[in-house]
Amino acid sequence: MRGKYLLGIDVSTTAVKALLVDTRGQVPASASIEQDFQVPKPLWAEQDPHLWWRNTVLGVRRVLQDHGVQGGDIAAVGLTGQMHGLVLLDERGNVLRPAILWNDQRTGEECEEITKLVGFQNLLAITGNKALTGFTAPKILWVRRHEPQVYARIAHILLPKDYVRYRLTGEFAVDKADGAGMLLFDLKRRDWSDEVLDKLQIPRMWLPKTFEGTEITGTITQQVAEETGLRSGTPVVGGGGDQAAQAVGVGAVEPGIVALTLGTSGVVFASTSEPVIEAQGRLHAFCHAIPQTWHLMGVMLSAAGSLKWYRDTFASNWGYDDLLEPARQIAAGSEGLLFLPYLTGERTPHPDPLARAAFVGITIRHTQAHMTRAVLEGVAFGLRDSMELMRQAGLAEIRQVRVSGGGARSALWRQILADVMDTEMVTVNTVEGAAYGAALLAGVGIGCWDSVQSCCQTVVHPVERVTPQLDQVRVYQRLYEEYRTLYPALSPTFNRLSSY
Ligand code: XUL
Repeated sequence: MRGKYLLGIDVSTTAVKALLVDTRGQVPASASIEQDFQVPKPLWAEQDPHLWWRNTVLGVRRVLQDHGVQGGDIAAVGLTGQMHGLVLLDERGNVLRPAILWNDQRTGEECEEITKLVGFQNLLAITGNKALTGFTAPKILWVRRHEPQVYARIAHILLPKDYVRYRLTGEFAVDKADGAGMLLFDLKRRDWSDEVLDKLQIPRMWLPKTFEGTEITGTITQQVAEETGLRSGTPVVGGGGDQAAQAVGVGAVEPGIVALTLGTSGVVFASTSEPVIEAQGRLHAFCHAIPQTWHLMGVMLSAAGSLKWYRDTFASNWGYDDLLEPARQIAAGSEGLLFLPYLTGERTPHPDPLARAAFVGITIRHTQAHMTRAVLEGVAFGLRDSMELMRQAGLAEIRQVRVSGGGARSALWRQILADVMDTEMVTVNTVEGAAYGAALLAGVGIGCWDSVQSCCQTVVHPVERVTPQLDQVRVYQRLYEEYRTLYPALSPTFNRLSSY
């Protein structure tokens, strides 16, 4: 390989992260440049693509400088980032408006329109998904309806990290994993769906060429070399959306091994060797960042975010360790106290922006420690919902769950997850997240490893295993049945409460 390091770049919602990885999978240096997004109206979320580019240049320069690395030491660049965001460019590559992000909820009407135009079953059969406000296609229709002057000037549509790719290489390209999250993809063929594009009247020429996550999509231009310190001609490999890259980073690259990410949101991610679609579209079905591999995914919007809210609101002077320790002394089931974790609405299994959180079953016996434990248990139950949908969709054998993200640092939470899901929870040595996965994909792309699977076998190792405890599994099985009754019972109230 020409160069000693792989560079992974993650264009997330809250930061641009640049990470160096060597060929043994070690991480000698990383840099993170934080960024904010705008909420111009309730339920909207936007970010200026120029900000991503500025922060990418800063992050790359910093990671090279801090470690005394020359551009020629970088063998390849891999990209990852927030999924589903809409970036619109004119024919000269200029940004037409701020990007509309994955967490923007303005497109309820457009989702209905898409479902009508394509047909619910047809849309599900082609794309693997139903229309959700987070996805990209409804955002395009929203711009057509509300900003016709912008729509008239569109020449290129990109996803967030692919705008950075365009700036790095001059190429319009997207990897198939992220492309599949636009609701314009033919899941089985792993490319744009002419039928969906025709029915929505979106010109195919606006969309970039699609690549596997391990294919080279272009090379660093001379101008970017001068700006960043990278060598011109350095290959930039496909990579993947943040969830697919995160899964690669923890070695969830074969059926039977599930990645569970306990960040602000919670994600349950399972690889499949063929496209699998959940009958009612309650799980997302996308391409994986690995050639000829797909995945199913459930997304909970407030996972570790629920614990953060709980601490900030009720125990703001406490560190997490102090808050969680008393909850360890409370018996499984928190003496019949349940927490419903829909603090920011929900996506899986109830795609409902109006869903709300609740504590149910408080008695005078319940202490703060019970409530803390109930939060951990409620999030675990919500994540189990996604696992159950996966089992129903035919993923019978789930051998191991690889758990990562901030929440996974808690041994108590890992044990609760193992007991609620009745599955072994494993932490791995690789904790750098999506940027790490993107760097590995870049390494496979230039031939450092034969395949993503062999790469992960070499560099990703289990560190700690937590096995289910039978007596707790039994308690949680009963309580999970109660948990499942809460949303159907409360959702009419949630709907009415939204008018206040
Ligand atoms: C996945 C999703 C989020 C975003 C932001 O479907 O919406 O994970 O990619 O990180």
